[in-house]
Amino acid sequence: MCGIVGYLGKNEKKEILLDGLQELEYRGYDSAGIAVIEGEKLNQFKAIGKLENLREKTKSYHTEGFGISIGHTRWATHGKPTELNAHPHLGAYSYVVHNGIIENYQELKAELQAEGVNFLSQTDTETIVHLFEKNHKTNKDVFSSFEATINRLEGAYATLLITEADAETIYFAKNGSPMLIGFHSDDVYFASSDTPIIGKATEVYYLEDGEYGYAREGVVKLFNAEGEKSFTKQALTADKISAQKDGYRFFMEKEIYEQSRVMGETMMGRVLDDSIVFDELDETFFKGIKAIKICACGTSYHSALTSAYLFERLAKIRCDIEIASEFRYKEPLLTDDTLFITISQSGETADTLEALKMAKRAGLKSLSICNVDNSSIVRESDAAILTRAGIEKGVASTKAFATQSMVLWMLALYMGQQRNTVSKKVLKTEISAMLHTPKALIVTDELHEKLHRLSKRYLHGHGFFFIGRDIFFPLALEGALKLKEISYMHAEGYPAGEMKHGPIALADSELFTIALMPHTMHYDKIKSNVEELSARDATILAISPLPFDLADDFIQTKYSSHPMVEFFEMMVVTQLLALEISVRLGNDVDMPRNLAKSVTVE
Ligand code: F6R
Repeated sequence: MCGIVGYLGKNEKKEILLDGLQELEYRGYDSAGIAVIEGEKLNQFKAIGKLENLREKTKSYHTEGFGISIGHTRWATHGKPTELNAHPHLGAYSYVVHNGIIENYQELKAELQAEGVNFLSQTDTETIVHLFEKNHKTNKDVFSSFEATINRLEGAYATLLITEADAETIYFAKNGSPMLIGFHSDDVYFASSDTPIIGKATEVYYLEDGEYGYAREGVVKLFNAEGEKSFTKQALTADKISAQKDGYRFFMEKEIYEQSRVMGETMMGRVLDDSIVFDELDETFFKGIKAIKICACGTSYHSALTSAYLFERLAKIRCDIEIASEFRYKEPLLTDDTLFITISQSGETADTLEALKMAKRAGLKSLSICNVDNSSIVRESDAAILTRAGIEKGVASTKAFATQSMVLWMLALYMGQQRNTVSKKVLKTEISAMLHTPKALIVTDELHEKLHRLSKRYLHGHGFFFIGRDIFFPLALEGALKLKEISYMHAEGYPAGEMKHGPIALADSELFTIALMPHTMHYDKIKSNVEELSARDATILAISPLPFDLADDFIQTKYSSHPMVEFFEMMVVTQLLALEISVRLGNDVDMPRNLAKSVTVE
């Protein structure tokens, strides 16, 4: 995802920008750039690919004395990763960097083009700088021209603008995308998260939506719709690791809380009002495809299992799922009318990579769904869809699973669109449910507190059964995997209807059943399955929007009209349950024993 760094002061600006951008590298990007104004001198550099390319280009460039500077790492959303599309974007005498999406950029661009403005890039960001210069032509005051510019922007943005018309000032605005301002004596820093400025700034102010203003001579003036406002700076930690945890106890906890936000990024530019768009896939990509085979491991395999229900239901296409390590040695029958999809958080899992190579040798078209750009699996595939979860540090995967499941849901709908298997009405319902998902993923204090309290009753026993039906069966598998990874207790996921075919023999009060009971999917059926377990004295933790009398413990989820929204809400509950049990047991939540984040051996 894109990253922003800005600096106003006397220190070497190039190094501050490049080092800051390096700290944001983990978010993923495909190009980078910086712009500096020092006295009369204006310099700008851009490079595609890794930051080393930009470092190489700026090798002999050094800054001296007071100046203003902005830098950016770009993850392409509008337009391909090229130097022209990289930020900062230049007008005639101003530069801008921007994170987010300007939703009305086409309208603004058409308006500016009609007045003779020439656009160099395909980005939405370039409209900001041209709009600013157009306003500045008629209204000579720089700040009110900037203010008029941001008043026209719709969508999410965090943006910095510098201009030769006012070479000592950085202008900023934030709405919907994160940005903060760091302070140390007369130095002012800007960044899209605090890691780039740790060790440099000592105080920080986290901008709120709708705030904008400017920094000049070490002083920041802040405004919102009501006018100028005062603000209180807070001390900035000097500890990078704890800063990276943003105040959470564990990376896993932070990543669970982040899911609501990153889901917005996963959908950005892809989920439109009435259609799903994947710029990554050309129009003929699915030509001749009659079936899908998905290969993955662990958590990624669980998101694949979920998607099989969605592909068959929405896109009416046969979809088979295989564990990559099994697929490799079973001498599978492969035909070239099958699309081979791999799913991987890291993009480096050896079994998944080898399965992909096998499928390619058999002549299959391949698509990867991955969180890491330029990883081996992405490079090996014919096409890739990035999940945009941002780096996941907790070994137990959370936001990667959430974003994989979302991408797969979007892909099933996208194929349904192409294959004419979804009506306009269904498309609308699915899209509206997708857009509702970030809300369903918000972790409330109440929920977290309840799971914290309840977790003390689940620290013993001879095992956990997570049960569910339909898409809630893979979610049950994933819930059980999370719990066993970080609590080291035995947990299994089971299709609820299968319990009576054997596992129910284990039922007694020391067998904990975590029952996923959505109201949108086979509620009565799963209710009967849980009743059977309760009759055998199993301890039941029910997760459902509908109160359930036989539950020993109950987590009430919201009523939502779509199973996937219920799925994501219940996913959060299972993740927090595992986390709280693990914390009570004193385990290393982020680095559980015997596990590695990326499994590059078979
Ligand atoms: C579990 C987990 C693992 C991975 C598996 C595949 O929390 O993270 O089960 O899902 O090792 O890894 P990727 O997705 O990187 O291919």
